[in-house]
Amino acid sequence: MPIMKDLSNKEYPDKKTAEEILAEASSHNLGPWTEHSRNVALCAERIASACGMDGEKAYVLGLMHDIGRRFGTRHLGHVYDGYKYMLGLGYRQVARICLTHSFGIKDIGTYIGKIDIDDSELKELEDALHAVEYDDYDRLIQLCDAMGAAEGIVDIEERMSDVKKRYGSYPQDKWDKNLALKKYFEDLTGRDIYEVVGK
Ligand SMILES: [Fe+2]
Repeated sequence: MPIMKDLSNKEYPDKKTAEEILAEASSHNLGPWTEHSRNVALCAERIASACGMDGEKAYVLGLMHDIGRRFGTRHLGHVYDGYKYMLGLGYRQVARICLTHSFGIKDIGTYIGKIDIDDSELKELEDALHAVEYDDYDRLIQLCDAMGAAEGIVDIEERMSDVKKRYGSYPQDKWDKNLALKKYFEDLTGRDIYEVVGK
């Protein structure tokens, strides 16, 4: 069943609709990204609930952050594809997360991976990113993206080391930013983040 545009003017889908969107997407591109998305969603829900944020919203945004993978295995292309797909369905809040999840540091130039979109698409992403004022949901999904592996919830530094191995390097400022995000949510929850997520 194709996913239809949501005409209710909601900024993000409910949990059931989000699960349907993910299931439909995974049939187009099988891979560990769907399990990764589920673990990001779980982390986000648990941390959100522990610090007075909306747990369902956090879950849905986590589940949908990589939805651009529906259109194939691309690097920056998955950000662009997810952003456009969610805008098309009317889910502006999800489109925003598809964009911001890869940019703990708000600069397109910090992307780890190939710039596999054309110049006009890149400009579109740059302008959209520039226009966003990050809130705690943007920060939460950035953090959880670094904790939710396909196999489960993992130590952030282990996961970054893994990316470092795969890509050959990992920018120090990005590394530091992820640890700062962890500290940010530990301050908000008043607890150790791994205890909150049940790692
Ligand atoms: Fe992700």
